[in-house]
Amino acid sequence: MRVVSGIQPTGNLHLGNYLGAIRNWVRMQDAMPDGGQCLFFLADLHAISQPHNPAELGAATLEMAAALVACGIDPDRSILFNQAQVPAHAELQWLLNGTARMGWLNRMTQWKDKAGKNREGQSVALFTYPVLQAADVLLYQATHVPVGEDQKQHLELARDIAQKFNNDFASEDAPVFTLPEPIVPPEAARIMSLRDGSAKMSKSDPSDMSRINLIDDADAIMQKVRKAKTDPEPLPSEAAGLEGRPEAPNLVTIYSALTAEPVDAILARFGGQGFGAFKPALGEALVETLAPIAARFRELKQDREALDAILARGAARAREMGGPTLTATYRALGLVRG
Ligand code: TYM
Repeated sequence: MRVVSGIQPTGNLHLGNYLGAIRNWVRMQDAMPDGGQCLFFLADLHAISQPHNPAELGAATLEMAAALVACGIDPDRSILFNQAQVPAHAELQWLLNGTARMGWLNRMTQWKDKAGKNREGQSVALFTYPVLQAADVLLYQATHVPVGEDQKQHLELARDIAQKFNNDFASEDAPVFTLPEPIVPPEAARIMSLRDGSAKMSKSDPSDMSRINLIDDADAIMQKVRKAKTDPEPLPSEAAGLEGRPEAPNLVTIYSALTAEPVDAILARFGGQGFGAFKPALGEALVETLAPIAARFRELKQDREALDAILARGAARAREMGGPTLTATYRALGLVRG
């Protein structure tokens, strides 16, 4: 079992990242059987696909490393690194660019959403972003990739690229790439904005009130939950009553994901009451989960040297682990190397 996943080091880690992906990373790390390995990385190469501030990217990369460790990623057990220290990611992307098709990339919803009406003005990197993401996981022969729902399409593309490459350049009994399986948590695959139940919680939303950041203090969390958009109806007593109400299911899902209490049990308790009764309970559950993470994060981010050392050590291990697949890819393509 080889688990690989990444996160962009832009903005703060938010509740969507945590419940949709990072918590699963930690669970998979903690349950890893002997002989298995987890690799988690900061996708700093992906971050340059959109306008960015070079002076901030380095600091944000170290901060995100601290946030992941604060969430429970153990750099002694998992390989934690940033892409920029492992040139094989960019090399493999180029090699896979010969296999990926324009039509496949044109269909990516993230490309369509981010480019909007201005496709001509986007960077080439934004368009080929999913090919780098395919390289990220194929380089290590990933078997499982824990992600939120929004990244599933990119993983399907990685499978298509791997399959086509194997078909075109490898024999059936010796494929170059393993087909990776996306692992999406059923209960928190898509956490929505607190201000708009039809938009996902995102670091790029201009309103900070739309998301819970892992570093928000208790007052900020309680205030964001109090102000979270809801409809005027009371909570239903059964899950079917949540249908067609964009905001209510999101808040109940978050509570359920935090407390592990099933949605039906939550609604049996709060059904018939207004959000005024439910929101304080939700706020408390959030504070209980996030306060210890925020405290660890504040401590870890002070020690820049320790974070540099973690990433350097992780990158050295990742370079070693990715070497054989990179070599096999060059060979399969008939590229001559000394
Ligand atoms: P990124 O940085 O946007 O998000 C990191 C992880 O958090 C998940 N996520 C969510 N899950 C549930 N609800 C939400 N509102 C929410 N918002 C974010 C994402 O699905 C993701 O799992 N392209 C990737 C980074 C990446 C990557 C990879 C991931 C680069 N290479 C290889 C997996 C494998 C991204 O931008 O994620």
